[in-house]
Amino acid sequence: MLSELAISGWENSPLTILDRLSTHVAEYFERHSDTPITCNVTPTEIRQHLANEYGSFDQPIPLESVFDDVTDMMWRWAEHATNPRHFGLTRPTVDVASVVADALVATYDPNLATWDFCPAAQEMERHVINLLGDRFGPGYADGLSHFTSGGEEANRTALAVALTQHFPEVATDGLHALDKQPVLYMSAEGHHSIEKAAHSTGIGRAAVRLIPVGDNLAMDVAALTQKIEADTAGGYVPFMLVATAGTINAGVIDPLEEMAEIAERYKLWYHVDLAWAGAAIVSDRLRDHLSGIERADSITCDAHKLLSVPTGAGMFFCRHREPVARTFGIEASYVPDAVEDGRVYPYVTSMQWSRRFMGLKMFMMFAARGLPEIARRIEHQTEMGDYLRSRLVKEGWKILNDTPLPVVCFTHSKIRSLKNGESAIVEEVKRMEAAWISKTTLAGGVPALRASITNYNTTPADIDVLVDGVQQALKTIS
Ligand SMILES: Cc1ncc(COP(=O)(O)O)c(C=O)c1O
Repeated sequence: MLSELAISGWENSPLTILDRLSTHVAEYFERHSDTPITCNVTPTEIRQHLANEYGSFDQPIPLESVFDDVTDMMWRWAEHATNPRHFGLTRPTVDVASVVADALVATYDPNLATWDFCPAAQEMERHVINLLGDRFGPGYADGLSHFTSGGEEANRTALAVALTQHFPEVATDGLHALDKQPVLYMSAEGHHSIEKAAHSTGIGRAAVRLIPVGDNLAMDVAALTQKIEADTAGGYVPFMLVATAGTINAGVIDPLEEMAEIAERYKLWYHVDLAWAGAAIVSDRLRDHLSGIERADSITCDAHKLLSVPTGAGMFFCRHREPVARTFGIEASYVPDAVEDGRVYPYVTSMQWSRRFMGLKMFMMFAARGLPEIARRIEHQTEMGDYLRSRLVKEGWKILNDTPLPVVCFTHSKIRSLKNGESAIVEEVKRMEAAWISKTTLAGGVPALRASITNYNTTPADIDVLVDGVQQALKTIS
C-alpha cells in the first residue's frame, strides 16, 4: 500500500510523507477562512531565504524539513484565493476532489500526446469535455475539443486555426505568402491574450482591431461593421471575429447572436472567448445568457476559473475537423501508428505535444459532486454577486457594469475627488485584511473598484465584511 511506503529520509517518522501530505491538505481545506488574503513580502526577503536554506543544493536536506519549509513559504508568502473573502480576479477556490486528481496525475504521469500511452486518461478527458461540448451545441464533442494550459493557449489555438483556414498557404509558406495583411476584430474590453496570440502567430498585434464598446461595455456592432468595411476597402483581409462572453474587467457579454450574423456575412471565423463565464453553460438557469454560443466556430472555456479546479485546465472547443487537422497535423515515424477506431491523437489536433492529464481534475470533481451541485455552486456565486450589488447600492455606491455574472465594478462620488482614490481604497481594504479586491479602468478611461465572486464558499456574511471594509476605507481616506 502506498500509505505504508517509507520514503528515504522518512523511516523514523511516525507518518509517511504521503500521510503527512494528506494531513496537510486536509488542514489547509479546514482553514480556508483563515488563509491570508494579502502578502507583503519582498523579492529580496524570499531570495535571501532560498539562498540561506538551499544555496546551490550541494547537500541533500531531509524531505520532511523541505516539506515544512515549502508549506510555510506557501502559507505566508501568497495571497490565498481559497479564502471566501478573496474577490478576484478570476481565481477560484479549488474542490478537494480536483486536488486529489492532480496528485494522481503527478503520480501516474501519463502523457496524453497519443491515445495508446494511456487510453484510460484519454477517454476520461474525452468523456468530461464532451459533456460541456454537448451543452455548447452540436459538433463540439467530436474529438477535436481538448484541454489546454489555460485560456491564453485556447485563444492562441483558435487564432492559429482561423488563420490556417482562411489562408491555407500560410501553413507551409508562412506570412510571406500573403500580399495583404490579415486582420481580426475584438472589442476594446476583450482579453489581451488575443493580442499576445497575434504576436506569436506572426500577424502582429496591430492586426487585432479593437472595436469600441457601447455604454453597456459590450461590442458596438455598428462600429464593428464600419471597421470591417473600412479595412476591406483599405486592402486588409478580415478573417476572424472574437466575441467575449464574460469580459475580464466587467463580466460583460457581447451580443453573441448579432456577432454570429456579422461573422457569417463577412465570412469570418467566429471565436467566442468565454474563458471565465463559460461554466455558466452547466446551469439551466444561467445558460440562456450564452445564447448564440452554438454558432461559434470555436470556443475558449476554462475549468480553472468558475469551475473551481486548480490552474492548468483551459479548454478549446471546435466544430470543424479539417482546419484543425491542417493546423496541427504532422507526421512522426517514432509515434505509434494510428488506429482508426475512434481513438484520439491530440499531438496532431492541438498545440501541445507531450501533454499533461489536465482533464482529470474536472472529471473527478464532476463525478464526486454531480452536475446539479456544480451548477448550484455557480448559481450561488451569481447570487452573491447580486447581493453585493444590492448592498453597495444601499450604502450609496454606484455600480458601473451590467452583467448577470458575479463581477461587480463600482465607485463612489467621494472617490472621484481623490487622487488615485481606487488604489487607496484597495490598499486600505487589504491592510485591514477585510477582503482582496482590485481596481481597474473600464473602457472610456473610467476607473473602477472590482470584486468578483470566485469562490463557492463565499457567504452573505463574507460580502458584508467586504462592504463594511470599503465603507471603512472610504472614511479613512476621505
Ligand atoms: C476572457 C478571458 N480570456 C482569456 C483569459 C486568459 O486565460 P488564462 O489566464 O487561463 O490563460 C482570461 C483570464 O482571465 C479571460 O478572462
